[in-house]
Amino acid sequence: MRLQLPKSVKLVEVGARDGLQNEKGTIDTSTKVELINRLAAAGVKHIEAGSFVSPKAVPQMADSGEVFAAIDRKPGVVYSALTPNIKGFERALEARADEVAIFGAASESFSQKNINCSIAESLERFAPIMEAAKQHSIPVRGYVSCVLGCPYEGEIAPAAVREVATTLYKMGCPEISLGDTNGVGTPGKMIAMLEAVAQDVPISALAVHCHDTYGQALANILAALQMGVAVVDASVAGLGGCPYAPGASGNVASEDVVYMLQGLGIETGIDLQALVEAGHFISASLGRESASKVGRAFKAKASRSSC
Ligand code: HMG
Ligand code: MG
Repeated sequence: MRLQLPKSVKLVEVGARDGLQNEKGTIDTSTKVELINRLAAAGVKHIEAGSFVSPKAVPQMADSGEVFAAIDRKPGVVYSALTPNIKGFERALEARADEVAIFGAASESFSQKNINCSIAESLERFAPIMEAAKQHSIPVRGYVSCVLGCPYEGEIAPAAVREVATTLYKMGCPEISLGDTNGVGTPGKMIAMLEAVAQDVPISALAVHCHDTYGQALANILAALQMGVAVVDASVAGLGGCPYAPGASGNVASEDVVYMLQGLGIETGIDLQALVEAGHFISASLGRESASKVGRAFKAKASRSSC
């Protein structure tokens, strides 16, 4: 029996934003720029390069304007940024972001902690962004956090995810990324949640964004692929976490996702070796081992063959 899988997958690389936003130490702007340029050179076509949020809330992203100004813009690559409000959108516009992302949640408590407002208030704040983005022909991606559980509330009903995802889609977001923010989901929950959301939002407009706290991310992604999802968020070297999701580990490693997709015969257009090297570059800059299993395996193999 053959699995029903997409022929190609768009990988949305979030390491430079979701990955680095949680780092405590100072990371030079030049290191961020080199990471982004290496990712583009590896064939990644969609790179979340920063966020225009309050620098008091997330100090690590305070230099996103400088990052956008310094990166090489590779033709065909989309360089995007998070924007929580119209002020963030204006900063993103000035930085010439190709795409912006608004980020809501299916959990009231997470919404309050993350963006200091209720779910309903967040949707009101997003409306002027949608309006301004339309005027400037900038696509707006929609995120929904806590789709498989919440660090504060625990269980989240698929119906709650469906409601927020549907609203963002109807507001004009062509792509909705469904975030397992604290990485608690399992494939059965992923399937139930996608079945609920897909009642209102076409599966072709959905992306999955899996943090890997409990080691379930690849299994959850495979379940989503089998349901027709063809956009996957991932973070090189498995960097990251969310400052407002205590205990959450990084996103699934991009190298591990690409290795799995290659094994399934699914196109990504990404050079895995170059991606692995980008992962080692940023891990060395941060002074630690890559969290990517594939990255580590490549390194071990290279050192065996050089003995
Ligand atoms: P607030 O305090 O309610 O906002 O924060 P405010 O409008 O009252 O402004 C307060 C101060 O922030 C003011 O400065 C504003 O100018 C400034 P002050 O007068 O005190 O000096 N400010 C800004 N500065 C720069 N850029 C801006 C901006 N907006 C206000 N855009 C706010 C509300 C949303 C701004 C704040 O809570 C915030 O920035 N939160 C950051 C949230 C964040 O970045 N979280 C991590 C990303 S989300 C995530 O990781 C999840 C995801 O990966 C998916 C998943 O895994 O599920 C996407
Ligand atoms: Mg995230």
